[in-house]
Amino acid sequence: MTGYRQENRRLWNEWSNDFQALWNADTADGDLPPAPSPFDADAPGGPQPDVLESVDGSAYVELGCGGGQGSVGTARLGADPVVGVDLSGEQLRHARRLRDFYGVEARFLQADLTDLPLADSSFDVASSEAAYQMVGHLEGALGEAHRVLREDGVLVLSVPHPLYELLDLETGEFRWSYFDTGRREITIDEEYESVLVAFDRTVADLHNALVDAGFEVQRLLETKHQEVRESDPADSDLPELLRMVPSSVRFWAVAR
Ligand SMILES: C[S@@+](CC[C@H](N)C(=O)[O-])C[C@H]1O[C@@H](n2cnc3c(N)ncnc32)[C@H](O)[C@@H]1O
Repeated sequence: MTGYRQENRRLWNEWSNDFQALWNADTADGDLPPAPSPFDADAPGGPQPDVLESVDGSAYVELGCGGGQGSVGTARLGADPVVGVDLSGEQLRHARRLRDFYGVEARFLQADLTDLPLADSSFDVASSEAAYQMVGHLEGALGEAHRVLREDGVLVLSVPHPLYELLDLETGEFRWSYFDTGRREITIDEEYESVLVAFDRTVADLHNALVDAGFEVQRLLETKHQEVRESDPADSDLPELLRMVPSSVRFWAVAR
């Protein structure tokens, strides 16, 4: 493995403990850490019953599963079997621990999204949260997602919204043009040896890549930042600009 993938794998291995600590920051002693599913009633953008009524009994794969929250949460909704795939061994270690905390069935595999070690047409449902922006070869990765889904299988794909990415919340300025797409390096922590490599894309790029991979996009949702969703504007010190842009873009697409 070379180039950006190796860099991202190293970065996620370095970042994993701190990243999962953020996930679990509000977990009281003795409580189970959070394990939300993208198919929960209160998931960002809400359920889309016209596209998918339920995941109960569905074969489900989480692509870029990180600490396994989506896999575990979706297993709790009745999906079976459940598989999570991620590049980072450290992230997968957290995922297996979360699975064991909850006592659900899920299998976690270390692999790249452009080369899934999964059989053709083996899943009814797939989802991904905040991972495909780190994939350089988007067409290849979406082609793999399409390959492992059965015909009419559902993909819920969410990435950070490009408007949120380019806005500097402190100065209120755009840090680059919406149309400046391509590779970008992000320093997460000066103490980490690796940087995160992300690939900026417009919403149209993402939409068209899904269509080109054989998906029919049935819903496109632009959701507000979680802190905005959960806070009262009259009683919050969140930057006003954070309320003015979507923080993620989410596609509900069907494999044709
Ligand atoms: C921001 S985290 C999100 C994880 C999880 N979905 C969540 O919501 O917390 C992104 C994850 O994508 C994984 N990732 C990045 N590039 C990947 C690739 N090319 N193949 C597989 N996983 C990748 C990283 O290792 C990391 O765990």
